[in-house]
Amino acid sequence: MPNNNLSQEVIMAIPKGRILDQLVKLLDKAGIKLEDDFYGDSRKLKFATNFDFLKVIKCRSYDAATFVAYGAADFGICGSDVIDEFAYKNLYEFLDLEIGKCRLSIAGNQEMSDPLLQEETKVATKYPNLTKEFFASRAIRADIIKLNGAIELATQMGLCDYIVDLVSTGNTLKENGLQEFCSISKVSSKLVINRSSFAVRNSQISQILNLFIDATN
Ligand code: PRP
Repeated sequence: MPNNNLSQEVIMAIPKGRILDQLVKLLDKAGIKLEDDFYGDSRKLKFATNFDFLKVIKCRSYDAATFVAYGAADFGICGSDVIDEFAYKNLYEFLDLEIGKCRLSIAGNQEMSDPLLQEETKVATKYPNLTKEFFASRAIRADIIKLNGAIELATQMGLCDYIVDLVSTGNTLKENGLQEFCSISKVSSKLVINRSSFAVRNSQISQILNLFIDATN
């Protein structure tokens, strides 16, 4: 895949959403300061930093890996769930940031039996590739329905037998009357780099990566 960032800027993609608080602390510890708009209610999506060459873009966590894989961002932070789902070849997984820890799990209504005992089933998820792979590895025929959010609604509304989704505190499952059957994988946030960018902008990217290494030690 080409590197689409043709400017001299180095772009870091970071995900919006619930890991942002942990991420802001990590950026602080790393000595990376963003312009004030980043921390407020602004709808801006691209921000300057205290490094002239470094700009930050804020995107949906599900999209951060895509921005980096296509070189629209040079490096970024995204969940291992998304990295595994897309399996982009041009993405170099550099560092586990040990934040945003959660798990990808199979869940369903309370009265459902163990999904691993089924011969065939219907599953709704934001992760069609990982879900398909998991059920296939257990020799279970799974009809996969792709959803983009509020996945917990799917079993309640009779759209599917089970869901595969992220579980952190377990509150969303609990509040929607669902039970967690088993975990497919552990998830945490990783720092990923576009392989072509790393070759072209090695010294600038390495300068920032070293800050992350120090901040996570
Ligand atoms: C994620 C995930 C679950 C929820 C789990 O959703 O999809 O719905 O968090 O967290 P919990 O176990 O702590 O309750 P998110 O809030 O990111 O939004 P989404 O539904 O748009 O994916």
